[in-house]
Amino acid sequence: MKLVIIGGASAYTPDIIDGLLKEKAVFAGGELALHDVDAENLQVIARLARGMVRAAEAELTVTATVDRAEAVTGADFILTQPRVGGLKHRALDERIPLKHGMIGQETLGAGGLAFAWRTIPVILEIVEEVQRLAPKAWIINYANPAGMVTEAVIRKFPEARFIGLCDMPTGVQWAIGKILRVDFHRIGLDYAGINHGGWSQRVLLDGHDVTPRLRRWAHLLGPVAGVMPLGEETGTVRLFRRFGMVPDPYLRYYYFTDQILAKLKRQNKTRAEVLMDRLPQLYGHYETAGAKERPMLTMHRGHQSHADLASQVIAAMASGRRTRFVIQQRNGGAVPNLPADGQAQFPAWVDASGWERIPMPRLSDEVAPLLQQVKASESLNVTAALTGDVKTAIEAAAANPLVPSKELATKVVHELIAAHREYLPQFR
Ligand code: G6P
Ligand code: MN
Repeated sequence: MKLVIIGGASAYTPDIIDGLLKEKAVFAGGELALHDVDAENLQVIARLARGMVRAAEAELTVTATVDRAEAVTGADFILTQPRVGGLKHRALDERIPLKHGMIGQETLGAGGLAFAWRTIPVILEIVEEVQRLAPKAWIINYANPAGMVTEAVIRKFPEARFIGLCDMPTGVQWAIGKILRVDFHRIGLDYAGINHGGWSQRVLLDGHDVTPRLRRWAHLLGPVAGVMPLGEETGTVRLFRRFGMVPDPYLRYYYFTDQILAKLKRQNKTRAEVLMDRLPQLYGHYETAGAKERPMLTMHRGHQSHADLASQVIAAMASGRRTRFVIQQRNGGAVPNLPADGQAQFPAWVDASGWERIPMPRLSDEVAPLLQQVKASESLNVTAALTGDVKTAIEAAAANPLVPSKELATKVVHELIAAHREYLPQFR
């Protein structure tokens, strides 16, 4: 068995390896191939990975290469998590919209649209390469903006063995597990929506509806979820109370836009800028830990739900252990309020044969229009990312709830294209 991580030098990788090692029996005798364009950090992570494998007494060979084709060849599972343009360009996605008086964010609003223009060409190139060099492999994608990336893949390669992932539903399961004092793997979500925008109409414990019980504890979701990535979860609690369904925490950007915008404006540094300050320390830790006989990780990038989800999905597929996860793929009616042909995020059964939708009930008219609006903006933007048509990109931005007007859409799109030009071959 060959597992590949594209974006293998990411600071997220050590925890993902840790997650895979929890399933070491499934991967025994296999190879873990790490690929990245950053040769230096790749060596740091590869050495650490070898130490972690040794300490876990796992039978897994770790290889590292900057040659992507070499990594992909003969693979069974490929985790894609590149960040095209790195955090430096994420900071531009945050700064430029903010300068124009709108939310600047990694995956939402104008910044998220620009991130899609950079990431989609790279992911499509990878999918095409995988079809040639490892046609049986499953691609598990974390690269953001995961919803638009997934939509591009299903448009261009409808038959691709591809699953889009986001750790937010797992993080929510984890938070609910804490509140109900049960292992979060026993929690299931009837999630319906898109990536970073949707609702869990029901929360299940061992398959039984516990939503009414959970509603009584809604206030606890705040403090508990506060320790998940993206903190400040009071918006999540308010939405849960107001609609009686558990929101994807990202919905707060749409429902509490003004408060969040005011907060972003007050901060000296954007999230990417904060991370850029922090990462050298993290890699320093990885280097020190990697030099030890038995590496111990005391610093982490991201919440444990991030590593858990990716490694559990791969383990479910590799072992054939049928498991329920919230995934992104072609909607196909699973979310009745959204276009059947586009990407949506919904629960599915995952096993050795792939994935199977668990259809969700229709969302109420109270919440559906917002999701439909975001979805329409994102779909247009996928077209823009594929064609390099600036007019379509402006239309996509103008249709987005976080972009205040057509005039501002035009300005921000032009400025974002100029800022990211080196990563946007389609807009040349
Ligand atoms: C969660 C989301 C990811 C997002 C990340 C941002 O994990 O699901 O899609 O990339 O948060 O966290 P960061 O630490 O990079 O701001
Ligand atoms: Mn996500």
